[in-house]
Amino acid sequence: MASGKSGAELVKQWGCVNCHKLDGPERLVGPSLWDIGARQDKRYILESILDPDAVVVPGYPPGVMKSTLEGMGFYQKVALADLKALVEYLASLQGQPGGEKQ
Ligand code: HEC
Repeated sequence: MASGKSGAELVKQWGCVNCHKLDGPERLVGPSLWDIGARQDKRYILESILDPDAVVVPGYPPGVMKSTLEGMGFYQKVALADLKALVEYLASLQGQPGGEKQ
């Protein structure tokens, strides 16, 4: 079942924000995603979520995102519509203060 939540809510619900900064360029456990929509396309973003180790960003540890999301049951529980909302939201982030481009 889709949660009906926005992408901005979903990144909090699923703990993405524990490892990724979304409102600034600083690195946490993982790379900042605040400009991911300017750097990558939706296909890459979707793959990065579904199969985090398919492409490992240089300088960051493999396995940690995957094992954390697996441990939360993300891959069993996340609804397709929520996955789409996450990808759309991340693709909208262009590295601008204040978040999404209009
Ligand atoms: C436990 C920490 C952790 C969590 C939780 C986590 N990630 Fe990640 N993520 C990483 C790390 C480390 C990398 C870099 C290594 C790699 O490419 O797998 C990464 C890479 C990424 C990338 C590619 C970034 C780039 O610059 O190419 C995306 C997109 C991403 N994560 C999205 C998400 C989303 C969406 C969630 C929540 C559903 C999430 N991550 C949860 C640690 C995490």
